[in-house]
Amino acid sequence: MTLTRKDFPKDFIFGAATAAYQIEGSQFGGAGPSHWDTFSATPGNVVGAESGAIACDHYHRYEQDFDLLKAGNFDAYRFSTSWSRVLPEGRGQVNQQGLDYYDRLTDALLERGIKPFQTLYHWEMPAALSDLGGWTNPDVHNWFGDFVDIIDDRIGDRMEAIATINEPWCASFLSHFHGIHAPGLRDIRAAARSMHYVLKAHGEAMTRLRAKGRKNLGIALNFEYAHPATEAKEDLRAAATEDAVYNKWFIEAMTQGTYPAEALEGLEAHLPKGWQDDLKTHIHQPLDWLGVNYYTRKIHAHDPNATAWPYTKPVDGHRATTQMGWEVYPEGLHHFLTRMKNDYIGDLPILVTENGMAWDDHLKDDAATDPERIAFIQSHLAAMKQAIDEGVNLQGFMYWSLLDNYEWAEGYDKRFGIVHVDFDTLKRTPKASYHMLKEALKRD
Ligand code: FCB
Repeated sequence: MTLTRKDFPKDFIFGAATAAYQIEGSQFGGAGPSHWDTFSATPGNVVGAESGAIACDHYHRYEQDFDLLKAGNFDAYRFSTSWSRVLPEGRGQVNQQGLDYYDRLTDALLERGIKPFQTLYHWEMPAALSDLGGWTNPDVHNWFGDFVDIIDDRIGDRMEAIATINEPWCASFLSHFHGIHAPGLRDIRAAARSMHYVLKAHGEAMTRLRAKGRKNLGIALNFEYAHPATEAKEDLRAAATEDAVYNKWFIEAMTQGTYPAEALEGLEAHLPKGWQDDLKTHIHQPLDWLGVNYYTRKIHAHDPNATAWPYTKPVDGHRATTQMGWEVYPEGLHHFLTRMKNDYIGDLPILVTENGMAWDDHLKDDAATDPERIAFIQSHLAAMKQAIDEGVNLQGFMYWSLLDNYEWAEGYDKRFGIVHVDFDTLKRTPKASYHMLKEALKRD
């Protein structure tokens, strides 16, 4: 059975998501370098040392891309406004061209009847601030707050909703502990500090936007189901530790004003002095909605050879995997939607701000058939519907992503789009999944 708009509540929002660095083309329009421009220029960090310099050239082609959204019967579009485009040095001189661009982009969405969902930080940390430590600098919340004021003054009044930060776990732990994303550090002190300061920056942005009367403020957290490899005590503990760092740290801090004990065990010694006060003054404050990004699960085991916390290692699972090597596990989406309601936010509105899959799609006779993606979307829609039927206040879903794009450390190999992009010609070709959604999202 194919789920369609009719299977969801009347005002349920269907959208597609992107992020500035992944599609715009960072070399256009006077943007300054971000830490992704420098990270990708360092051998070994990104497949093929590819960067977002041109990406999908969305900077020049947004009208065409928004025509696709409209023709696809989408209600909404989630995008990010790049800090380094608006403030090339991160602070000080504003790039007017950047503000003008986001202004035009907002109007182009509204003209087509598409609701704009803005993300204020989707990883475009200006290189000049990265030089000063980026997310590990104790002033970063003020720098971010100033950027937020500037961009909000220009377009904030026309946003349907605003998310402060995209995936704080990725911006901090993945990037400062695992070293997989920019700035590519592997340092527990930097990890702990960035995990704290990214939340403080979220709080600062909330406070500043509230002062301007904004009532549509949230954040997009990513969740990954943490499965124990076996029922052995050590493996249960490994999964609980990973779950705490990934899935509890950020939501618990914002909604309860505490950090989970299993994560503090490794991280507390590295947090900045006064962190408990920041939880009270900045981090623990109401949200208007919560964004949930969900892709997969991971299986965790105790690592007997590990010499340092967290003493865990990933284990292969048995589910089908995507082009990213991620297991397809829609049960995990249902799990997090109900868990958010039961453990943290009650009836606060939730949006699935990202969910999707990469596949090695090829064009044949100017079309792409992607039955794997169609099945993926349908199985995750079913998980969302089940959660709604059980009383979760889920109000929308944004597919990741509208376009094939720059998949960070994976370069351009991994294709998440419902629209195929030829990275030589930049031609867009809607895939079968786009046509499936277009049909499913038809309004009467
Ligand atoms: C998420 C990111 C998004 C995209 C997807 C595949 O972690 O928010 O930019 O890369 O993964």
